Amino acid sequence: MDRFIIRGGKPLHGKITIGGAKNAGLKLMVAGLLTAERLTLTNVPRIADIATMRDLLVQHGVGVEDLNGNGTSYAIGGEITNTEAPYDIVSKMRASILVLGPLIARCGKARVSLPGGCAIGTRPVDMHLKGLEALGAEIRLEGGYINATAPKGLIGDRIVLPFASVGATENLLMAATLAKGRTEIINAAREPEIGDLVSCLNKMGARITGTGSGTLVIDGVDALYGAEHRIMPDRIECGTYACAAGITGGDLKLVGGQVDDLGAVVRALEETGVEVSQEEDGMRVRRTGALRGIDIMTEPYPGFPTDMQAQFMAMLAVAEGASMITETIFENRFMHVPELNRMGARINVHGSSAIIRGVHALSGAPVMATDLRASFSLILAGLAAHGETILSRVYHLDRGYEAVEKKLAACGANIERVKG
Ligand code: UD1
Repeated sequence: MDRFIIRGGKPLHGKITIGGAKNAGLKLMVAGLLTAERLTLTNVPRIADIATMRDLLVQHGVGVEDLNGNGTSYAIGGEITNTEAPYDIVSKMRASILVLGPLIARCGKARVSLPGGCAIGTRPVDMHLKGLEALGAEIRLEGGYINATAPKGLIGDRIVLPFASVGATENLLMAATLAKGRTEIINAAREPEIGDLVSCLNKMGARITGTGSGTLVIDGVDALYGAEHRIMPDRIECGTYACAAGITGGDLKLVGGQVDDLGAVVRALEETGVEVSQEEDGMRVRRTGALRGIDIMTEPYPGFPTDMQAQFMAMLAVAEGASMITETIFENRFMHVPELNRMGARINVHGSSAIIRGVHALSGAPVMATDLRASFSLILAGLAAHGETILSRVYHLDRGYEAVEKKLAACGANIERVKG
């Protein structure tokens, strides 16, 4: 298992190119199941989760051609020969559940492993299943698998989501594109990645309106067609590197980053004392004064994203004064706290809230990555700490961040990957 060795204390200066969004790219690949024609995706991030999604599509029988031979552009297309998503892939990556709606819509049946819990919470899929049942699918849970059939096809309906779940919105949205008649998804998630998916589906011939409004209206069509789509920039990767500039007191140009997609993250950065501006080719972030403590609550978009919570916690650990972070999306997403405390942070967790009392400095220590975003909070802490931090279980990070050590080292960070 690879490790990172980080020697902290250097402010970061330079340019970092933001890659395509993981959470858009995965769903856009799944959208390829909705047509036998060729869906070409560009700006694909070179991360492990995309490779896992590629494996999943290939075992469904669909071709995934690497157009440039470097993993940045894929052509997806072909007939589906296998409607089963097996446990070994779904358990590795929960986003695999998103093949359920498209497989039922296109083939009238699907057998998809239940994803089960994960490190950050139990993460049920009840809303996905109830929504698909409302569209006419018959669902049985058996032997750890979801067995779904809709021999006569799906039929549009009005679905009210009890919570604006990103995954449930996407699964139902994709299924409804090929349903008969109109589907309305009320209390739909409004994340920008869903807007990116809608824009690609509409290029493929779908008829979807209401992006970003909380109500998606989908008029079903008989078939979808080939299209070409560039994946949007990753707003979470961008926010993460903004925190790297913030915690080290640096100045970074995040090439391709869009202030508008970051919303509440930009406001939180500014409140902590990080300056943010949009320039022609990307976002500039820098800090010259002190970091200030703030209070944050995670919420569905346009609120503050849970995927940025751990990174802000690292920054607030060295801010002036006290901060409070309340996590409302996942029940077990504070696993970075004991690791940050081992580096000298003063953080107490009370239920779903963490109180962070800012300290003057952190000190390097051996720490362990537990999930994707938590891993980066430890890198951020290591970049600001005195001495050496050794981060083990880097594979969590490789699932969603491309070339972390290269991007950081190019801006002056002292970080190296030790293989093994
Ligand atoms: C997606 C993102 C993830 C992000 C999350 C919230 C991808 C691949 N992942 O995950 O990075 O942190 O959105 O912004 O895009 N829930 C239920 N029943 C359901 C579905 C969800 O109870 O049927 C609960 C979940 O357990 C969780 C909450 O709803 O507590 C939010 O989950 P959801 O928005 O669905 O997140 P994901 O799509 O899994």
